[in-house]
Amino acid sequence: MKVLLQLVSVFGALGAVVQAQCPDYTTYAQSPQGNPSSGPLALPYMRPEPACRTFNSSAVEQVIANMTTRLKDPDIARLFENTFPNTLGTTVRYYNETENLAFIITGDITAQWLRDTANQFAHYHTLLSIDKDLASLVKAVINNEARYVSQYPYCGAFQPPPESRLSPTVNDWALDVTVNPPVDNQTVFECKYELDSLCGFIKLSRSYYQATGDDSMMNDNWYAAIDRIFRVINEQSQPSFDENFNWISYYNWTGGNGALSPAVDNGGNGEPKGYTGLVGTHHRPSDDLSVFAFLTPANAMLSVELNHLAEILDAAGQGQNISTQAKKWSKTISDAIWNTTLYNNIFAYETNGLGSRYVMDDANVPSLLALPYLGFLNKTDPAYVATRKVLLSRNNPYYAAGQTFSGIGGPHVDPWHPWPMSQVSAIFGTDDDAEITKSLYLIANNTHGLGLIHESQSIYNSSDYTRPWFAWANSYFAEMLLDLAQRKPYLIFKDNVSYTPGQ
Ligand SMILES: *[C@@H]1O[C@H](CO)[C@@H](O)[C@H](O)[C@H]1NC(C)=O
Ligand SMILES: *[C@@H]1O[C@H](CO)[C@@H](O)[C@H](O)[C@H]1NC(C)=O
Ligand SMILES: *[C@@H]1O[C@H](CO)[C@@H](O)[C@H](O)[C@H]1NC(C)=O
Ligand SMILES: *[C@@H]1O[C@H](CO)[C@@H](O)[C@H](O)[C@H]1NC(C)=O
Ligand SMILES: *[C@@H]1O[C@H](CO)[C@@H](O)[C@H](O)[C@H]1NC(C)=O
Ligand SMILES: *[C@@H]1O[C@H](CO)[C@@H](O)[C@H](O)[C@H]1NC(C)=O
Ligand SMILES: *[C@@H]1O[C@H](CO)[C@@H](O)[C@H](O)[C@H]1NC(C)=O
Ligand SMILES: *[C@@H]1O[C@H](CO)[C@@H](O)[C@H](O)[C@H]1NC(C)=O
Ligand SMILES: *[C@@H]1O[C@H](CO)[C@@H](O)[C@H](O)[C@H]1NC(C)=O
Ligand SMILES: *[C@@H]1O[C@H](CO)[C@@H](O)[C@H](O)[C@H]1NC(C)=O
Ligand SMILES: *[C@@H]1O[C@H](CO)[C@@H](O)[C@H](O)[C@H]1NC(C)=O
Repeated sequence: MKVLLQLVSVFGALGAVVQAQCPDYTTYAQSPQGNPSSGPLALPYMRPEPACRTFNSSAVEQVIANMTTRLKDPDIARLFENTFPNTLGTTVRYYNETENLAFIITGDITAQWLRDTANQFAHYHTLLSIDKDLASLVKAVINNEARYVSQYPYCGAFQPPPESRLSPTVNDWALDVTVNPPVDNQTVFECKYELDSLCGFIKLSRSYYQATGDDSMMNDNWYAAIDRIFRVINEQSQPSFDENFNWISYYNWTGGNGALSPAVDNGGNGEPKGYTGLVGTHHRPSDDLSVFAFLTPANAMLSVELNHLAEILDAAGQGQNISTQAKKWSKTISDAIWNTTLYNNIFAYETNGLGSRYVMDDANVPSLLALPYLGFLNKTDPAYVATRKVLLSRNNPYYAAGQTFSGIGGPHVDPWHPWPMSQVSAIFGTDDDAEITKSLYLIANNTHGLGLIHESQSIYNSSDYTRPWFAWANSYFAEMLLDLAQRKPYLIFKDNVSYTPGQ
């Protein structure tokens, strides 16, 4: 088939710019490229040729070699080989080690999302202790994000840093939206306020420190960012109305005017909320507007990550006032989740602090299905087990099942296109071998023969999918296989020897 060629700038590990004739990966990812795997799915090799890769890591290559040698199913091995290096191979748009700045795109959207980058790098964490160059790249991602967050803590997606001299991308969906506090579109790609974006920044930071023990990422930018995060937590945990029924609004986003979401009620504030100890959000991890402000899974992630934040500050002997606040908020939020979102042992996805609750789940992580993955609770916890049963049934309005594919989707695409990501979360949340194998093959069977993980997949039509190049989904899938390599080696390996890369 024909692949459109375009000139792209590829930046070397030390910032050297290499011009190469490289295909646009969004186009590349829509047709099978290299040799097919030898299993029944015959999945193609989809890595860009070496000269076109945006970052190289020998540690990553070693993990690929180890896994592909040991995985018993050649189709699963091919999926690992394509997905594990996808972030490094395709999404590092700019990196300058001296400047300590890196710009990472999501895949087919040329912007850096705080949520996506945290997830795009999550499966490399164990390698940071053995690959110094990879660790430096992650540190540069953190520093770039610290600058964004310290300036625009309510925003989740950003433009390239000016040092890169890359042009900002015009986001048609954001052009005529009014957002307060106002933002500069040379820095901000989109300013939807999504609580989990801030959690993503903390997760990336603490994982870096945990893996390397290097506290040099805790620089002035980083402290400024952490300070703004606490300001947002304080602002967004307050009830909507004061005693005279004035709206207390620190952030509002109007929607409409060409945005994907329609105009937002109540002056761009959304639905009113009470006080519970939870922290409100305006949009979900799917970038869709929240129905109710208190998103349970984002608060669960925040509670977990604030605890980790306290741990790394204590370990580094720094920021004692932040550590104290972090622990206090972590407990307040966790108590509020257990006290106000659970009914008959079922977690609500969203609540408003005034008695209303919405039982559903959305594929995007943080989700309720992913609560064990997030580290909030044990997969054997009765509340999780009971909630999971609801989420994977018709009682979840965004669960759907067809002849060849099933899972949880969301209103972002539509109810008939579940996301493979939900099946990854399902695997992280169970120890049942049969369930794990079923979810794994639901994913593997539904790549439209392309060997990459897509955003959503129709339950009616196996060639109908969205987003050919979605780095987060690729990383999350690879992270899950590495989790199985450690937790359930006999299920996926020819042998039964547990594997943890970097050890
Ligand atoms: C990286 O940044 C340093 C310091 O600003 C600069 O001297 C160097 O030219 C940059 N390298 C590239 C390739 O842009
Ligand atoms: C990755 O390695 C290949 C050679 O194997 C090289 O051509 C390419 O420029 C390298 N990419 C980067 C970003 O250094
Ligand atoms: C994979 O890694 C494990 C330990 O990290 C090692 O014992 C094993 O020999 C490696 N296997 C292959 C095929 O590289
Ligand atoms: C920024 O906003 C101005 C005014 O709406 C618009 O003309 C311009 O294209 C936007 N630039 C980007 C990068 O979004
Ligand atoms: C929107 O938020 C700003 C603060 O960023 C606030 O001053 C303004 O009153 C809010 N507007 C509404 C309609 O709530
Ligand atoms: C911690 O203390 C510093 C210096 O006194 C202050 O600037 C910062 O706002 C405090 N942070 C928190 C989260 O209390
Ligand atoms: C909330 O939960 C905590 C621990 O789960 C409990 O100690 C506390 O009394 C509860 N608070 C309320 C108001 O129910
Ligand atoms: C989860 O609970 C089970 C027992 O129900 C225990 O064996 C396991 O270690 C726990 N896992 C975690 C991560 O706490
Ligand atoms: C995946 O496809 C194979 C045929 O290639 C089929 O045997 C298997 O049942 C399918 N698995 C799932 C979970 O759909
Ligand atoms: C299935 O989806 C593909 C891609 O969207 C479309 O071209 C095709 O017409 C669809 N087939 C049916 C039977 O609807
Ligand atoms: C795999 O190894 C573990 C620990 O060594 C053992 O408990 C388990 O029974 C083995 N499972 C199989 C299927 O061989």
